[in-house]
Amino acid sequence: MGQEEKYTSDHPDFVYSSANRILHWIRALVVTGLIITGFYIADPFLTSDGSTDKLLYATWTKWHLIIGFILIASGLLRIYLFFFGKDSEGELRSLKDFFSIKSWMVQLKSYFFLGELRKKGFYGPLQFLTYTAIMLLLIVSSITGLVLYVHVYHQGLGGWLYDPMRAVEAWMGGLATVRYIHHMAIWGFLIFIPIHIYMVIWSAIRFKHAALDVMFTGYDYHLKKEKENKEDNT
Ligand code: HEM
Repeated sequence: MGQEEKYTSDHPDFVYSSANRILHWIRALVVTGLIITGFYIADPFLTSDGSTDKLLYATWTKWHLIIGFILIASGLLRIYLFFFGKDSEGELRSLKDFFSIKSWMVQLKSYFFLGELRKKGFYGPLQFLTYTAIMLLLIVSSITGLVLYVHVYHQGLGGWLYDPMRAVEAWMGGLATVRYIHHMAIWGFLIFIPIHIYMVIWSAIRFKHAALDVMFTGYDYHLKKEKENKEDNT
């Protein structure tokens, strides 16, 4: 069978809106920036050569905070789009797979080459669980980051957030614990990122669809056979 016959490239599925794609790449960039600047803040390895006019540590912290606020803004927007975006219907449909034991079995078996992957929404149940966990990690990093922030800046937003963040700090067991949780979050991302990139490439090859391209174009392509199966099941 020729390549043209195998793929439904004439009828690709719309998956991600441009807003969601842009937000994905913004967060990929800012998380990378936060990891680099965060590692420096945790262990400053550059010195100011004895001069006090360079304030290297403050410069790294300034950039960490600027990027951190971009992360918070893009995270909030992404949560909104999950529920109310142009593409949210397909994402929300994944909840049906997530709460179905049958869908879990179908996904896990397909990973071991025992049958094809069939799902109702965009994401398989394991994929949905992983992305939800990463969103929770982003929320934890953002909240602990804000607690650290109100101890550095006391005016403007820092002053406004001071009381609620001090309450969160007390609830988490004190500033040292908050700093520790914030620091540990970095490792969650460092574990997730290589697995995420590997799985995107692996599933593009395994299931022969546009797993990587979809985050650029917004459209996914499926095998005709897979699409027919999906239609039979709906
Ligand atoms: C992916 C998200 C983030 C990562 C991986 C990250 C990583 C880190 C790390 C590793 C540290 C050093 C902790 C230590 O002292 O051992 C740090 C410090 C800090 N982070 Fe983040 N961070 C993130 C998001 C944020 C956000 C959203 C904010 C707030 C807007 C923020 C604000 C801060 C502040 C204020 C400090 C302390 C700076 C200082 O002590 O001068 N971070 N971060």
